[in-house]
Amino acid sequence: MAQARPGDDPLIHDLIGIGFGPSNVAMAIAVGEHNARVGRDGGAALSARFFEQQPRFGWHRGMLIDDATMQVSFLKDLVTLRNPASEFSFLCYLKSKGRLIDFINHKNLFPLRVEFHDYFEWAAAQVEDQVSYGHEVVGVTPVVRDGVVEHLDVTVRSAEGLALHRARNLVMGTGLRPRMPEGVRRGERIWHNSELLHRVEELDGTEPSRFVVVGAGQSAAENVAYLHRRFPRAEVCAVFSRYGYSPADDSAFANRIFDPEAVDAFYSAPEHVKQQLIGYHGNTNYSVVDIDLIDDLYRQMYQEKVLGTERLRFLNVSRVTGAEETPDGVRADVRNLVSGEDSTLDADVVVFATGYRPADPIGLLGEVGPRCLRDEEGRVKVERDYRIATDPALRCGIYLQGGTEHTHGITSSLLSNTAVRVGEILDSVLDRGLKAGVDAVRTPAGSVRAGAEGAGAQAG
Ligand code: FDA
Repeated sequence: MAQARPGDDPLIHDLIGIGFGPSNVAMAIAVGEHNARVGRDGGAALSARFFEQQPRFGWHRGMLIDDATMQVSFLKDLVTLRNPASEFSFLCYLKSKGRLIDFINHKNLFPLRVEFHDYFEWAAAQVEDQVSYGHEVVGVTPVVRDGVVEHLDVTVRSAEGLALHRARNLVMGTGLRPRMPEGVRRGERIWHNSELLHRVEELDGTEPSRFVVVGAGQSAAENVAYLHRRFPRAEVCAVFSRYGYSPADDSAFANRIFDPEAVDAFYSAPEHVKQQLIGYHGNTNYSVVDIDLIDDLYRQMYQEKVLGTERLRFLNVSRVTGAEETPDGVRADVRNLVSGEDSTLDADVVVFATGYRPADPIGLLGEVGPRCLRDEEGRVKVERDYRIATDPALRCGIYLQGGTEHTHGITSSLLSNTAVRVGEILDSVLDRGLKAGVDAVRTPAGSVRAGAEGAGAQAG
């Protein structure tokens, strides 16, 4: 545990963001817009620094399938729900690319995933003075003065080695981690769908004859369609325990579960009502597929039946119980859940589209972890402003973007509420900082001391 010493006066960031995916890009924009405003009108500016382990901005690059579309309206971009006049909106992006009118004519709320990635990159590039790419946060240490944790030291690993950065607040936006079934390890021929496009490139010049895709969610269906199209001679076997793919409920009333107000309702609901809501509305997001894609896959399967060229197979009510690489491929063990019969599928590749889990925020926090309060089920307690509830001797704010589904509901790891959430976190940092008498009242361009990487406030 670091002890603060008299005269020990390194740069202290008001806010350090861990990860620079869409959540913390939105945070950086909100900080930048705030600082631009106080630069004009006066008030408390904030210094913020973000660390991203990837060498450059990237949002689920392995799944940027060329025809995949967003599952969220473009109006739920990084800013619009917080500040419809922001210059960082998807519409401003379109304007800057000369595609605004074409997009309007398209009459479509759901852009291509590759297009939204380009939008995120465009937005991230405009706040890149706040971020250090190629920098992985590997630990957090409390800085204690007179028994009180006044600051947090963040250890960051980069090509230059390890460095310490001190913060008053952390905003953790470390995203999701691919989930494999228990006992299955990724390998040359056993993939998680998150690496699809990178791994497929390695098959260039080969003639794969069979793929197995495990899972019944959106990613699984996209993998089936993509592999079927990309390898016109290969059979693609989809294995899942459902009877068939189920459509995502994106109807208007159900969609309100993603509204900012739904977070208030969910947060204050009793635990059993929370469970009920997740149960009722899980099919807006989990283990479901866009109806258009379901229709496409069915049409394709039927056409192949008619033509006698079947290479799209659906092994429903079945589970892959194991997968093992062999000298010239991979063998998947499949159990039919109706008959209990076991069979094997020899394939070139098995892709597990078995979902993601939120990164463990507490794991990174080291000695700070035990100061974070837990609920009866051992889950981290989070306040309405996304701040982890901690013991009172910890004066710093640790905010979560993601990993709050048990407290804030289904939007926790989604884009739907990102713009509003970062506004709430920013308000909380300012409000709590000022109440605590933190010396955050500075001008953006002026007196914030620059750190090793030229930390400073960004004007949006
Ligand atoms: P995200 O995972 O995007 O970013 C986290 C970042 O933190 C990463 O860049 C990572 O490298 C970095 N990081 C992690 N640990 C670090 C460390 N220790 N140090 C430094 N950096 C670290 N949602 C939705 O609402 N609509 C949609 O259409 C989709 N589509 C979609 C497609 C696919 C293929 C997936 C897998 C997911 C979606 N999602 C989605 C959900 C998805 O969670 C969401 O779009 C965002 O990725 C959430 O953004 P975050 O910034 O929170 O996490």
